[in-house]
Amino acid sequence: MANIFPPNTNKRFYGGAVLIALAAALVLGGLYYVNFQVPEYEPVQPVRFSHKLHAGDLNMSCTACHSAATRSPRAGIPDTKSCLGCHQHILPNSPLIAPLRQAADPQYPGYTGEPVRWVMVNRLSGHAYFNHMAHLNRGIGCTSCHGDVAGMERIRAPRDARMQWCLDCHRNPAPHLRPLEETDASHYSAADYLRTHSVQDTDGNRLRTPVQLGNFLKHQWNIQPKMDCSTCHH
Ligand code: HEC
Ligand code: HEC
Ligand code: HEC
Ligand code: HEC
Ligand code: HEC
Repeated sequence: MANIFPPNTNKRFYGGAVLIALAAALVLGGLYYVNFQVPEYEPVQPVRFSHKLHAGDLNMSCTACHSAATRSPRAGIPDTKSCLGCHQHILPNSPLIAPLRQAADPQYPGYTGEPVRWVMVNRLSGHAYFNHMAHLNRGIGCTSCHGDVAGMERIRAPRDARMQWCLDCHRNPAPHLRPLEETDASHYSAADYLRTHSVQDTDGNRLRTPVQLGNFLKHQWNIQPKMDCSTCHH
């Protein structure tokens, strides 16, 4: 980490001051959290896109649209052109599809080329760092963090996406771990997975319970999420 103190300052003093400031911020942050719980955030979007229909009923995987999630820090919002891959055939003349064609179909009479302005829902404040790839490639699934998106007509951010939530899982990740091919699944249940797949531990015994599976994956992949402040605060 870069040295933020000029060479001649009294580092002990500044170090103490920084610690006290951090402790105060944590206490205030805690009070804020207890007293003013943030409601779930569910803004109206410019197009009535339904995750319940696409990820739920049509059972599309999450990365079919958010393909950046496994190879970059961000999950990304799909380009409107990718929607038209289906919607130039499926309900192309529906008024609900019109904004997509205005944005991305030059043949459409009302074409403007203006991108659809989706309202962002999940946003950490600037001082915390998050990385999708670091989770998806280590066995944490989309729905472990974003909830039952495949059941949502309109996307909703969880009310507890705060530091304590990150730390709780970093301290004890085993119950949340899944086989890698399941991390982008719209629906996942460890119990169902164990019923339909034979997973064996290193001694050849078949794993029977979700607890066994979580502990096995943690051990097998040597999962050790970091807890030090600089992991998420640069
Ligand atoms: C470990 C928890 C976690 C997992 C797993 C996770 N997300 Fe996220 N997601 C977050 C957080 C936290 C943010 C806010 C990030 C920020 O503001 O920097 C976010 C933001 C997003 C966003 C909006 C901003 C962006 O990154 O482009 C989308 C879309 C998204 N996630 C989709 C997904 C999908 C799809 C998956 C699975 C392929 C997934 N997420 C897996 C926690 C998670
Ligand atoms: C794999 C094909 C596929 C893709 C890709 C797809 N959709 Fe759909 N979409 C459908 C189907 C199927 C329906 C339901 C059609 C029906 O009700 O008969 C639908 C319905 C809709 C509707 C409701 C239309 C109406 O009149 O009821 C909207 C809005 C919509 N999609 C938006 C989008 C957006 C935005 C994207 C891109 C992010 C997208 N779709 C990508 C297949 C797709
Ligand atoms: C057919 C394409 C499509 C599929 C499949 C899809 N998404 Fe999305 N997703 C979108 C679009 C378009 C948006 C932006 C509009 C909105 O918020 O509804 C979005 C927004 C999101 C957001 C909110 C982004 C923000 O602003 O914070 C999250 C979280 C998310 N998706 C997670 C998922 C998860 C988890 C799955 C799998 C269960 C999934 N998506 C499947 C197209 C898709
Ligand atoms: C696993 C990731 C992670 C680790 C490790 C972590 N933080 Fe955080 N921290 C966050 C997130 C996420 C937020 C909330 C950002 C937001 O509100 O959008 C946050 C917020 C904060 C805040 C603002 C008050 C609050 O609670 O919202 C302070 C102060 C803070 N962290 C200090 C620390 C200190 C000191 C450490 C080391 C003991 C630490 N953090 C370790 C992720 C982390
Ligand atoms: C459901 C469990 C879970 C949640 C929630 C979660 N993480 Fe993680 N996180 C993990 C796991 C597992 C890893 C991978 C550890 C490994 O590779 O050994 C990880 C890794 C990371 C890494 C990469 C550095 C490292 O430790 O290897 C960062 C940065 C990170 N998480 C930040 C966050 C932040 C910020 C939040 C909250 C907004 C968060 N995480 C929430 C489970 C979680």
